[in-house]
Amino acid sequence: MRDAAPKTIYLKDYTPFGYTAQSVHLRFKLAPKATRVISRIAFAPNPDATDKSFFLHGEQLDLKWAKINGEAITPQISEEGLSCDAPDEPFIFEAEVEISPETNTALEGLYMSGGMYCTQCEAEGFRKITYYPDRPDVMSTFTVRVEGPHPVLLSNGNPGDSGDGFAEWHDPWPKPAYLFALVAGDLVAHPDRFTTMSGKDVDLNIYVRAGDEDKCAFGMEALKKSMIWDEKVYGREYDLDIFNIVAVDDFNMGAMENKGLNVFNSSCVLASPETSTDSNFERIEAIIAHEYFHNWTGNRITCRDWFQLCLKEGLTVYRDSQFTSDLRSAPVKRISDVIDLRGRQFAEDGGPLAHPVRPGSFVEINNFYTATVYEKGAEVIGMLKTLVGDEAYAKALDLYFDRHDGQACTIEDWLQVFEEVTGRNLKRFKRWYTSAGTPRLHVKESYKNGRYKLTFRQETPPTPGQPQKKPRVIPIAVGLLGVDGKEIVATQVLEMSKRQQSFKWEGLSAKPTPSILRGFSAPVILERDTDDAQRAFLLAHDTDPFNRWEAGRELAKSTLLAMIETGAAPSAGYLDGMLAVLRDDTLDPATRALMLGLPSQSDLTQILADKGVTSDPQAIYDAVQTLKLAMAQHMQDTLPRIYAACQVTGPYSPEAEPAGKRALANAVLALGSRLDGGKAAQEQYDSADNMTQQLSALACLLQENVGDAALAKFYQQWKHDRLVMDKWFGLQVSYAAPEDTAKVAETLTQHADFDHKNPNRFRATLGALAMHHAGFHHISGKGYTLLADWLITLDPLNPQTTARMCSAFQTWKRYDAGRQTMMKAEIERILAQPSLSRDTTEMLTRILAA
Ligand code: TRP
Ligand code: ZN
Repeated sequence: MRDAAPKTIYLKDYTPFGYTAQSVHLRFKLAPKATRVISRIAFAPNPDATDKSFFLHGEQLDLKWAKINGEAITPQISEEGLSCDAPDEPFIFEAEVEISPETNTALEGLYMSGGMYCTQCEAEGFRKITYYPDRPDVMSTFTVRVEGPHPVLLSNGNPGDSGDGFAEWHDPWPKPAYLFALVAGDLVAHPDRFTTMSGKDVDLNIYVRAGDEDKCAFGMEALKKSMIWDEKVYGREYDLDIFNIVAVDDFNMGAMENKGLNVFNSSCVLASPETSTDSNFERIEAIIAHEYFHNWTGNRITCRDWFQLCLKEGLTVYRDSQFTSDLRSAPVKRISDVIDLRGRQFAEDGGPLAHPVRPGSFVEINNFYTATVYEKGAEVIGMLKTLVGDEAYAKALDLYFDRHDGQACTIEDWLQVFEEVTGRNLKRFKRWYTSAGTPRLHVKESYKNGRYKLTFRQETPPTPGQPQKKPRVIPIAVGLLGVDGKEIVATQVLEMSKRQQSFKWEGLSAKPTPSILRGFSAPVILERDTDDAQRAFLLAHDTDPFNRWEAGRELAKSTLLAMIETGAAPSAGYLDGMLAVLRDDTLDPATRALMLGLPSQSDLTQILADKGVTSDPQAIYDAVQTLKLAMAQHMQDTLPRIYAACQVTGPYSPEAEPAGKRALANAVLALGSRLDGGKAAQEQYDSADNMTQQLSALACLLQENVGDAALAKFYQQWKHDRLVMDKWFGLQVSYAAPEDTAKVAETLTQHADFDHKNPNRFRATLGALAMHHAGFHHISGKGYTLLADWLITLDPLNPQTTARMCSAFQTWKRYDAGRQTMMKAEIERILAQPSLSRDTTEMLTRILAA
């Protein structure tokens, strides 16, 4: 019962480790059930530390022997690690442990996936490999010898000696243990080269299982683009002779930035036109960039402790979104990011799991790899850049890299470089890091005698542990439109820092229409008394592409809320507005596709809950179906023309332009299917030569309930391909009717190809259940029970993935008493399991405390 009394760890308790690690030598003798790890670590007393007790983390290790300066020792061993007396001068610690990768289903530490060995050490997995101060502020060079019969034996850094049955690696850059990696297996390389800006040649490889070689080319191009981009935009050059990427089928997250040896969930690197959709391609490009960018923001400069996680993640997400904006369409990327932010981060920030971008405490750090740390963390950096300007941002980043290279840093270090470069005091801005919750921004306008005034008031609702909120610094990008729709005041950034603040414009001949929070300049909820006429005006005239989209989204919300709350018919204004968007050939297809989308059903529930309205998931589902049908009918005459105009001919390319055309064509196909019963979708399915076209058509057929034949055909065609089969599992759940969703998911969990130990398959099936709003929350409660059953099954095997999926229950307080009672009962049933993991226990306890 190692988790009987989970300890809370506090940022304020940080103290440095009593020793520094000068060098680490590791020797691995690989064997599935009995791998031996022999370590030799040079330690020295840390002059910056007062506490000189010598404790090394270590979990589930079978210690064979340990020595200090060559003398055998008998350390005290606990469930958490090893302690012993240590000399007050430099010394050598040696140990040999045995571990069992084959039985490691948690996928943390050294484990096996499809016959290969691989590691995942972030955040605290290295302690499952050997005894070590497993904390990011202990940095050391690593020399690794891997012994095994495998043709490919990899670790971090540059290759050293190798021969039959062994390979040696040396990483000259001091790093924390969480960046350690080892891979061994019968793998095939997709090789390439890159010459850096200073003329250094770097070997690049993507390692995959035999049979996947034809899915590496796109990832490799993305890697080279990332390397060039980081040189051009941030002046950051790669720093080793080799950069390896390995694709692994069993992985808890997307990918991991281990120094010189990135390990990827195969779903985040393998791509081919036949098996991957346009969004898969875009996501793969972004994740490859993300992990590569970590080489500087995360690896060369790392985090002092795990409370500083946003230091590397927020910044790296920000950098990868800049990269995608540069390579593809900036407005499309911004709109997609905001949809994602509202769907995941706002939900988190508005519920029991709310926490600051830099949390002040945690029980299990794995539970804090959240949308708040990552996505809100990136928003905070975007705001900082908006406030200080591009030039100061570039200067501050140069200073940051210059000053902190090789160090383990804090948010204070990060803000300090901006203060020095700009002379600004960022104390107030820092609240974005320390205070949880999404600010509400109320706006009032007035116009008199040519003088126009906007008055803003900010307010952040209480979050767990933070009942009172201080005002934040909010950059509000605003433009003003004249009566004729022309822009009369170009975008300017208003800097709000008080609870209430007004901004004025003089000499206007008539009352303008404001376009507020352009580009979504701050992660806040804008509350404004506008009418549909003003929204339609902005939808037609706003020069800011984000706010033009936002106006359409506001109109969609307004008509959906009226439909849900009063049974109103779909608003003619909305339908006309969307028809105009569809026909507007000056708008690029990708943007039009985004504009035709509706707010998610879970977002609608949140909006209603904010107004104090408890909504019925089925009613929301029905309203969405009604609106989509009305849109299809209203656009009936235009749909075929757009569908035809957006057909892409020639060989498939995942670039933004053809992908945008397919996105619009498929949005049109989905609407049209509601009228033709899936006829056009069947034709597209039968003639599709790429996964985007095939899967979109299949989704339409399932939506119209005529997909059985296509589904069976799809299975026969793709049953050998794990990643495509994940789509097959997920899609059936996503497109099930609400009353059937749990049943469909349950049947799929009994399918021969369902493997709950594989996180991708588990998420494809049960994650799709959790995300099917009306299906998961169906009044029968079957969705809740099925998910809870599977979380109970998975927890002893894989706590990390189980805990992440507990967030499906985080919104339980939004619903009616009946649903609340059912969800609470399921949460309590999981919590009552004996030996429940610390991960899952923490998540569910926080959710319940709401
Ligand atoms: N650092 C990784 C990233 O953002 C995240 C990650 C990968 C991770 N695997 C993990 C975090 C396992 C915790 C546990 O790129
Ligand atoms: Zn990251």
